[in-house]
Amino acid sequence: MSQSFTIKNKYKILCKDAFKALDIKAIKDEKFDLVVTSPPYNIGKEYEEKLSMQEYIDWQESIIDKIIPQMSATGSICWQVGNHVDKASILPLDYIFHEIFAKHGLLMRNRIIWTYGHGFHARNRFSGRYEVVMWYTKSDKYTFNLDDVRIPQKYPNKKAFSGPKKGQLSGNSLGKNPEDVWNNIPNVKSNHIEKIDHPCQFPVGLIERLVLSLTNKNDLVFDPYMGVASSGVAALIHERRFKGIEIDKDYFLLAKKRLDACLDGSIQYRPHDLEIFDPNKKDGGHRKEISKAAPELIFSKNEN
Ligand SMILES: C[S@@+](CC[C@H](N)C(=O)[O-])C[C@H]1O[C@@H](n2cnc3c(N)ncnc32)[C@H](O)[C@@H]1O
Repeated sequence: MSQSFTIKNKYKILCKDAFKALDIKAIKDEKFDLVVTSPPYNIGKEYEEKLSMQEYIDWQESIIDKIIPQMSATGSICWQVGNHVDKASILPLDYIFHEIFAKHGLLMRNRIIWTYGHGFHARNRFSGRYEVVMWYTKSDKYTFNLDDVRIPQKYPNKKAFSGPKKGQLSGNSLGKNPEDVWNNIPNVKSNHIEKIDHPCQFPVGLIERLVLSLTNKNDLVFDPYMGVASSGVAALIHERRFKGIEIDKDYFLLAKKRLDACLDGSIQYRPHDLEIFDPNKKDGGHRKEISKAAPELIFSKNEN
């Protein structure tokens, strides 16, 4: 099936193989400010054909080779991967992907460890509870809006006890740097507010933090393996534009539904800066709103 939907100035999504779609004018002629994706991991999920490791690497390299020239000069690419599991042994995929990105001269800014609380219970090794976001830029000149993603200080009232700032608050009043281990963003399991019919959705908050810090309003976010467009949701609710590709028709249609829900304000998601639910605290330690509807969007809805 080959199908596409466009909401002018906001999103374009294609139901196609990513490699082929990258040759289509609407994608090929673009410069991406942020490429963010989670590719198939070659672990035999229902949407992937299991390849030999070398075939998998060659396939992924062929896509990355096509994408990198399309990054804007100040742009970023974030490749989110886990471990390839083969019988009992694991292979961290970031180890393999780094060689591909380094070959292109990209600069690695962070290797973000995203850790979460739920998953498969292993019997013959420790249960895996993290994945990795590999963040690269094309040059030393890149967008990084740290103040837009600061998180609450652990001790917001802490004061300096000596020196010229003695008695004054010692931390940044806007909050602290979220650091490179992200442990307050739960993975999307059955009771998650964002759960729909896809076996491995990104939590929107994971991409929201990247979209806010690595792009500006109106910038273009691209996801070549968009699944149900969690990256597109993060982009649209913060007034960025989105282009995405998905080969599976059912996921593609769900993606469209979610992107339209962003535009009519009915989307629900868990923000990146919400604390993990703590049963020992009042309301689980949550502020009142667990999900937010989209803010008013700057563009008028204009379908073509
Ligand atoms: C790990 S999932 C990404 C999920 C996504 N991050 C989300 O939040 O929904 C990978 C996706 O890539 C899609 N896919 C697999 N092979 C593809 C290809 N050749 N071209 C485009 N999409 C593909 C799969 O159908 C799957 O939805």
